[in-house]
Amino acid sequence: MTEEVANYGASTDAVILVGGRGTRLRPLTIGTPKPMLPTANYPFLQHLLARIQTAGITHVVMSTSFKAEVFEEYFGDGSELGLDIEYVVEETALGTGGGIRNVYDKLRHDTVMVFNGDVLSGMDLSGILDTHHRKDADVTMHLLNVADPRAFGCVPTDEEGRVLEFLEKTEDPPTNQINAGCYVFKREVIQTIPADRVVSVERETFPALLSDGHLVVGHVDNSYWRDMGRPDDFVRGSSDLVRGIAYSPLLDGRTGEAIVDESAGVAGGALLLSGTAIGRGSVIGAGCRIDGTVVFDGVTIEPGAVVNNSIIASGVHIGANAHIDNCVIGEGAQVGARCELQGGMRVFPGVVLPDAGVRFSSDA
Ligand code: GTP
Repeated sequence: MTEEVANYGASTDAVILVGGRGTRLRPLTIGTPKPMLPTANYPFLQHLLARIQTAGITHVVMSTSFKAEVFEEYFGDGSELGLDIEYVVEETALGTGGGIRNVYDKLRHDTVMVFNGDVLSGMDLSGILDTHHRKDADVTMHLLNVADPRAFGCVPTDEEGRVLEFLEKTEDPPTNQINAGCYVFKREVIQTIPADRVVSVERETFPALLSDGHLVVGHVDNSYWRDMGRPDDFVRGSSDLVRGIAYSPLLDGRTGEAIVDESAGVAGGALLLSGTAIGRGSVIGAGCRIDGTVVFDGVTIEPGAVVNNSIIASGVHIGANAHIDNCVIGEGAQVGARCELQGGMRVFPGVVLPDAGVRFSSDA
């Protein structure tokens, strides 16, 4: 990193959008906002904050709405992370564009880097800032080259990197470049977003900037990228962090097949595989096989249970020899011994399934 590039961070505000309700991850998000869910044993947002801090940005404004108080209770003024964090709360959710506009009064610099709070990305923050300044852009967007862009809106650019248009999902996309959910704005551009009403940055602000003749530039790369919005992506993202496939400064030197909090207890003969994370105070019995799974805090898994690609929320109890495959088990639920759950099932918080009470195979 050149010194010139590193200096951009010091004169940049970070704004993180964390006001969404996270409905696709229910029931995990009933009581906890999505960016605060444990991922590789840290709240997801803490990995992003560490990357922001590493890029030399210190001033962070969190754009909050749903469960706003949870963020400040956990991160406070940010000093323990080497950051200066402020919080802005929307009384009613203003959408992504409204959320950016709503923090305007807190901004200190002319360059503002906006992050979706639920994207796990390996992007080079300093590289995006460098593009923004070199092109003297009004807005620079991180664009990602993906193999199959059909599930995303795509963003074609010209040979100079200038964004040409924003296209909705289509079966026949003209480019493989998609919007990766990280933008650098000139501060004055944020002031042009309408205040005090719901605005979508993707659907309203960006198309309006283009039609008004603003210079919107794409910074294209092939970095690691995952929207953590759905359970299967959440599980994959967490295990990729644990295995070091996705980079987090918080896990430097600690990546591998599994990460186990030092207060957790794992019995001999239990197998923890494929990027499994075991949270604070959780207990894993002998002979368990836990594969690619996120285990939150205070969970008990009795001997012989098999858990694959699942999310096990805090305080859950899983009985002996239960089999859980691709499921979300909500806070405090109890899954009886020998139960078999699979195929995207979501057990809601506090639900009690008796021993052998739910089976997939016929022999109870
Ligand atoms: P789903 O309900 O599962 O779609 O999740 P979500 O509510 O988080 O929506 P989405 O994934 O589209 O949001 C993208 C990012 O913007 C997330 O980091 C959200 O927290 C954030 N966000 C979404 N809506 C708002 C809003 O109204 N205000 C603020 N401040 N942030 C928002």
